[in-house]
Amino acid sequence: MVKSSLISGFYKLNPKDRLALLKQFADLSDTECKLLENTGSLPMDLADHMIENVVGAMPIPFGIGVNFLINEHDYLIPMVIEEPSVVAAASYAAKMVRDGGGFHTSSTTPVMIGQIQVVGVEEPEAAKLRVLAAKQEILKKANEQDPLLASVGGGAKDLEAKVIHTTQGDMVIAQLHVDCRDAMGANAVNTMAEAVAPVIEQLTGGIVLLRIISNLATKRLAKAWCTVPKESVGGEEVVDGIVNASAFAVADPYRAATHNKGAMNGIIAVVVATGNDHRAIEAGAHAYASLKGQYTSLSTWEKDANGDLAGSIELPMAVGLIGGAVRTHPIAKIAVKILGVKSANEFAEVLAAVGLAQNLGALRALASEGIQRGHMSLHARNIALAAGVPEGLMERVVGQMVKERKIRMDRAKELVKEFGGAKD
Ligand code: MEV
Repeated sequence: MVKSSLISGFYKLNPKDRLALLKQFADLSDTECKLLENTGSLPMDLADHMIENVVGAMPIPFGIGVNFLINEHDYLIPMVIEEPSVVAAASYAAKMVRDGGGFHTSSTTPVMIGQIQVVGVEEPEAAKLRVLAAKQEILKKANEQDPLLASVGGGAKDLEAKVIHTTQGDMVIAQLHVDCRDAMGANAVNTMAEAVAPVIEQLTGGIVLLRIISNLATKRLAKAWCTVPKESVGGEEVVDGIVNASAFAVADPYRAATHNKGAMNGIIAVVVATGNDHRAIEAGAHAYASLKGQYTSLSTWEKDANGDLAGSIELPMAVGLIGGAVRTHPIAKIAVKILGVKSANEFAEVLAAVGLAQNLGALRALASEGIQRGHMSLHARNIALAAGVPEGLMERVVGQMVKERKIRMDRAKELVKEFGGAKD
């Protein structure tokens, strides 16, 4: 029988019936179906309302980053991630930073940009000026969409307009600046962009196409910085190594991608834990890193006059504490409670500090013993688990693989036989 993925009305089925169909299509065993169906602390009903075509949920480890001192305040950091060593590296780096007085942070007001694209405009520069001249009317219309946001001090605050030259001809782009307060803001901004579109269409005489938030949140930036005593980093040589690693990332996009990935390891783990939109953060971060024309590093590390290590990071941070999964996912709510942050700004600043810590943790390892040593034992444990090593032999097999620097499934299986645990 030829299997077809063309399934009409899949979305109308309940998760059980969807799973039954899937079981047949993918030859899943009863055990595999049970694993999928076991949604743990996220009730199936809730999962089914969060996204479409739900058949189950996938648990990912939830760890706690420790040692974080940010603006003289202690934080425990909830981190959801599948990669070994990230939580350990963040905690280790936070401890080093603590020795230098901890992280310091700042952030801008939480302003997001909504874009309205107008095509087919006859005199785009003149149309742009007409849009700008109607700023107050447009802002008023935008703010009528969300009186609650305006009542807490947020709302549409400014309007920009530009003409861009594209393969499809000139376009007028209007940009609404919306202070989203404690929300990530996509819903509010998209609603406002859609609401003001007819006014803009009339003013320009063109046709409005896209009306959507920009994830390049240059008006919603978070910054963190710290100084780490050279003794805490591992001495002057390690400081020099980190400064050189930083210069490498600033100058070379190939290294910058990996350097930034290291920082995002920490940031995204916290963003996921709190049910925020990690794709938005990732997109914003990398676009921001390219803003000057060449992709570069989001953080920099220098040696100060004392020979200590001084680092800083700055990136867009469109996170919220209200709305979406942040308020519905039971584990996300716990993560926010653990963080104890009182505003989206405080949250954004903590995230910047976590990114800086994660970056430092990676660079310290790279500039001293290399990354593999730290990664190795957790990696070996994962491989041993995948190879079916029995719990009783786990420590010996992991220890031996690390010692031999041979971390492979076949070696794990061989060692099980060698240590007398094989039953085949
Ligand atoms: C691995 O997930 C992250 C690192 O590659 C980051 C870096 O190279 O800076 C270790």
